Amino acid sequence: MKMAAVTCIAPVNIAVIKYWGKKDEKLIIPLNDSLSGTLSMDQMHAKTTVMASPNFKKNCIWLNGKEESFENARLLACLKEIQRRAEQNEANKELLQWNVHVCSENNFPTAAGLASSAAGYACFVYALAKLYNVRGDVSQIARQGSGSACRSLEGGFVRWHAGSAPDGSDSLATQVVPETHWPEMRVLILVVNDSKKKVSSTSGMQRAVETSDLLKHRVVHCVPERIAAIEKAIRNKDFPTFAEITMKDSNQFHAVALDTYPPAVYMNDVSHAIVDLIHCLNEVKGSPKVAYTFDAGPNACLYLLEPAVAETLALVNHFLPGPNSQENAIQGIPVVPVNAQDTIGALQKMGLQQQAGGLLKYIISTSLGEGAKQLSECAEHLLSPTGLPK
Ligand code: DP6
Repeated sequence: MKMAAVTCIAPVNIAVIKYWGKKDEKLIIPLNDSLSGTLSMDQMHAKTTVMASPNFKKNCIWLNGKEESFENARLLACLKEIQRRAEQNEANKELLQWNVHVCSENNFPTAAGLASSAAGYACFVYALAKLYNVRGDVSQIARQGSGSACRSLEGGFVRWHAGSAPDGSDSLATQVVPETHWPEMRVLILVVNDSKKKVSSTSGMQRAVETSDLLKHRVVHCVPERIAAIEKAIRNKDFPTFAEITMKDSNQFHAVALDTYPPAVYMNDVSHAIVDLIHCLNEVKGSPKVAYTFDAGPNACLYLLEPAVAETLALVNHFLPGPNSQENAIQGIPVVPVNAQDTIGALQKMGLQQQAGGLLKYIISTSLGEGAKQLSECAEHLLSPTGLPK
């Protein structure tokens, strides 16, 4: 059977300067620049196979094992845009007449509220670009699937430039430094138990643009300075500056969410207990050793350097214990336990209280990693040669 297939994987990214607010809803052009770390694909990634064949009656997509409709404006925008670019290459003439089947899955729970759409759209666009041999920047296409997706194409630290062109042609993501630049950088994701239905990023930021005065102030007076300063801190491997800006920007983003009318509340009591813990820890240590950041949900993402990982984990396990006062379950890079009794004592003296057991679901221990990439083995394809999920 005639067909062409490509399989790729793409990472999750966690912003340290947040994207929140669009100046163009349809093209997904942001109000401000944003900057994120790309997480290692060893622990978390999206995997996508795209297949084209003259036998396919229509475009089809399966997401995490379930068939979904292809009649989705963002999905179609990405496909149309890649195909428009592919038309410039005569070799694609036949391929472009065929329908596509897409199969995508995450190796981490979508329900955990971790940036799954960013990894998913980055992977979809990257795989299509490989299928049609489209060269050059495709971040401006991934952006049209989900804004933050454009930052998952590259590894290390990545900046999404808002741009000024009305057509979005200069709204693209570029790498600031590769993951090898700051190899000690580590990430702990504290997945918080939560059942509350939350306002999606898309509608939360739309409402913020319409109603928040603080957002207007942030875009003009805070983000430009912060972006320049954090980029410099990253290049100089200046962790205290990096950490302070990261925490301030997360706090301001959540303040904007609260300044939205009606307000959007993403952090919960457990999130705030984590914030208290990190500030007490940083105070005891005399300078920031750990930075927290929260996206549109209660989970904490901690950026820290490798020497601080074991003690931080011991503190989390003490102040936010697992069920029945046991340690929290941990996935990913193993951490050798240490005795943190002295620091625990110092934090208790500051009035920090131990929380009830079982407030966290689990912890993911990871690092920074590379951007989206193609897998060369046919065995990796998620679709069988007939075009159906394996
Ligand atoms: C809080 O990229 O999910 O994670 O462009 O509407 O799809 P859409 O929004 P999305 O928003 C992400 C918001 C954030 C901050 C960030 O990643 O910069």
